[in-house]
Amino acid sequence: MDFENLGAQTHAPPSCAHAIQNENIIHLDHLTKIFPSKTKVVKAVDDISFDVKKGEIFGLLGPNGAGKSTLIRILTTLLTPTSGTACVDTFDIIKDPEQIRGIIGVCPQNGTLDTELSAYDNLEFYGKLENVDDAILEDRIWELLEMTGLSDRAMVPVQTFSGGMRRKLEIVRAFIHKPLILFLDEPTIGLDPESRREVWQQIAHLNAAETTIILTTHYMDEAERLCQRIAFVDRGRLIALDTMENLRKLIPAGDLLEIGVEKIDERVVSKIKEHPLVNSVNVLEQRVTISVTNGSQVLPAILAVFDEYSLPILSISIHSPSLEDVFIYLTGKKLDSGTENAPAPGTRGRRGL
Ligand SMILES: Nc1ncnc2c1ncn2[C@@H]1O[C@H](COP(=O)(O)OP(=O)(O)O)[C@@H](O)[C@H]1O
Ligand SMILES: [Mg+2]
Repeated sequence: MDFENLGAQTHAPPSCAHAIQNENIIHLDHLTKIFPSKTKVVKAVDDISFDVKKGEIFGLLGPNGAGKSTLIRILTTLLTPTSGTACVDTFDIIKDPEQIRGIIGVCPQNGTLDTELSAYDNLEFYGKLENVDDAILEDRIWELLEMTGLSDRAMVPVQTFSGGMRRKLEIVRAFIHKPLILFLDEPTIGLDPESRREVWQQIAHLNAAETTIILTTHYMDEAERLCQRIAFVDRGRLIALDTMENLRKLIPAGDLLEIGVEKIDERVVSKIKEHPLVNSVNVLEQRVTISVTNGSQVLPAILAVFDEYSLPILSISIHSPSLEDVFIYLTGKKLDSGTENAPAPGTRGRRGL
């Protein structure tokens, strides 16, 4: 008997067949990706572990540069991790990339449609690439075009399509071989509100077909609208992971008072912190966000502090915590902070005073 090999097998990490527990379809185990460069080393993904459940829409939510696309590229076998492992279904991202590619569909962050080709031709080309049986390919293409409402533009070059139409086409294209898992990287980036809603409907529709969907976004309204569970990521790290309802509970109970000021005065901030009904005070740019147990009860006392130090108030609002508030509470930064210009995420449960 080869005792040396036997020893090695005993200490080897569990295979994906073991790592994937019954209700899960993706398993990440201490995944790390480092991009070395001459000037600085970037830890794009920093020791991330979690599981994705079969059939769920799972959101990776974080600002630009958080590491979302890198994580998607690792899970879709386009990049290898620096360390750590991951399983997609029962397959290992390093050992079984071919098998994984057969069961996933990917819609990358940057458009990859051939804009000179028609919608039909784009789907046909991709279908052949994914080895969809010729006998069913044509029906499948029309089915997908129907789903997107683009049947009447099937033979028109994609360059005449709006951003929303292109995105919808790209998403169903990733679905042409009926994958078990769909990866959508920033599916609605840069789209107008109407197109975003249409894309959301499309995603919900594909999920209804029992496809597991992993999407990345830096729009909190998108994550709130679509995802059963959300992972907050920031600077490559997993900050929190839960249902939206549970993530909201991370902020101490109560209301959020948001006070806009021209400049911050630290004396005001520390005085407010002393109030017994104030749970926390967060300062971001020219906005003081105060978590309080009872907003209307505490407001007069807080206004009195601003008055005492003659600090003019530009705006006041009181609202219940949104996902973005939770993100700010945990990381001290906004979701849309980053290098790219993006429309501001929607706000929730807000009432002006
Ligand atoms: N190929 C690469 N080479 C070097 N750095 C990279 C590369 N890809 C991504 N990065 C860096 O890794 C970090 C995470 O990027 P990315 O995964 O694209 O974030 P996100 O998708 O959340 O905006 C950023 O700092 C980015 O500049
Ligand atoms: Mg990205």
